[in-house]
Amino acid sequence: MRVTIPEPALVLLIGPSGAGKSTFAAAHFRPTEIISSDALRGMLTDDPSDQGASAEAFRVLALLANGRLKRRLMTVIDATNLRAANRKRYRALAARYGIPVVTIAFDLPAELFAMHNERRPDRVVDGEVLAAQTERMVEAMTDLASEEYEALYVIRDAETMSATTVDRRPVRA
Ligand code: UTP
Ligand code: MG
Repeated sequence: MRVTIPEPALVLLIGPSGAGKSTFAAAHFRPTEIISSDALRGMLTDDPSDQGASAEAFRVLALLANGRLKRRLMTVIDATNLRAANRKRYRALAARYGIPVVTIAFDLPAELFAMHNERRPDRVVDGEVLAAQTERMVEAMTDLASEEYEALYVIRDAETMSATTVDRRPVRA
């Protein structure tokens, strides 16, 4: 699959834990372009999975996203982004600066989320948490179709994930 992203854009990666969002982001974007909720939780607590730091992590995430979009810089939000209300807030933030929003949804088979999770060397997410996120992903896929984006890309299998290329299309300010 060929993903075309205006530059600058706000890119929302969407998918449960283990989907491969961080792996994809690292392959296609510069480290400074990626704002990761896990990385921010890690910076706050030394433990990226410490959910007790989520509220603070997301406040910092919003501050960073605002700062980058204000400067018209490519910004990737690496979080599950499964809640419609959160995505709406990010669309409003980007709209404030006239920056388009592109979503990349990782709508993979549920077994793949679980398999990635079991094999991962870093954090393993609890099975119940993953099941709840997988259900929310089904809802998110329905909701996404009626949300306004510059583009919506959906990755449905592992082959597509590894074969996807990302092209940037410069946009004048
Ligand atoms: P990621 O760490 O990229 O998932 O991959 P994620 O979506 O960002 O998950 P959260 O939301 O932060 O929890 C999870 C594991 O799956 C492997 C990665 O190497 C990692 O160990 N993976 C990912 C694959 O084996 N193949 C892939 O195509 C993608
Ligand atoms: Mg991740």
